[in-house]
Amino acid sequence: MKKVDIKIIAHRGSANKTPENTKASFVQAKEDGANGVEFDVHLTKDEEAVVIHDPKIDRVSNGKGFIKDYTLKELKKIDFGSYYGKKFKGEKILTLSEALQITKDFSLINIEIKKGYNINQGIEKKVIEAVKKYDLEEKTIISSYNHESLVITKNINSNLKIAPLFFAKPYQVVQYLKNLNTQYIHPYYLMVNQELVDELHKNDIKLNVYTVDNLKDIKLMAHYGVDGIITNQTKKALNLLK
Ligand code: G3P
Ligand code: CA
Repeated sequence: MKKVDIKIIAHRGSANKTPENTKASFVQAKEDGANGVEFDVHLTKDEEAVVIHDPKIDRVSNGKGFIKDYTLKELKKIDFGSYYGKKFKGEKILTLSEALQITKDFSLINIEIKKGYNINQGIEKKVIEAVKKYDLEEKTIISSYNHESLVITKNINSNLKIAPLFFAKPYQVVQYLKNLNTQYIHPYYLMVNQELVDELHKNDIKLNVYTVDNLKDIKLMAHYGVDGIITNQTKKALNLLK
């Protein structure tokens, strides 16, 4: 393997053992020894940034409907743990601020802005405010499939690191990233090969690949020399790279 300092980033916390994107999952990620943590944010009806992957709460709670249709107070009454297991009953949705308070000691914090369609307008400002509140600009990477949202983020605070998410390699990738004014990319691991890693590194661009759970693939990514691996298998990945 080429690189020994690859960061293992716990996807939605340690979501293979706990309800994703909750306090339990972030505490577990710490226990598992993750170097970093990744989580997703949406805006509530009253424009609070909250940590959840889907635009709807159905899959991860005992409630139903869109985040954008609930106030934070209403969401806080809903159980985000029982769906996963009895012992997580009463787990609450986290505000971004609460999540940062819990995760601030990780060496890398990756906040993914969810802005896939016409929701979460103005979320960038809320994210930036929360990161600033905890003085976490240095160790935070803001990622998104919505690259315009990343440009908005960078325009508000040029100190923040942004990382576009990609499923497939864009045309003229280095030029694309230069246009976004970033030195980071978060690619889907199946689009990554040695040629891409070398081309990016030659241009001082770091890559954190997602979401790599199979040990054979984790090994391959390490062999290519990626900078970080976003995974649901934190502990296994760390043991493998020891
Ligand atoms: O940030 C990498 C990965 O989390 C993106 O996909 O759907 O798990 O948010 P998703
Ligand atoms: Ca994500």
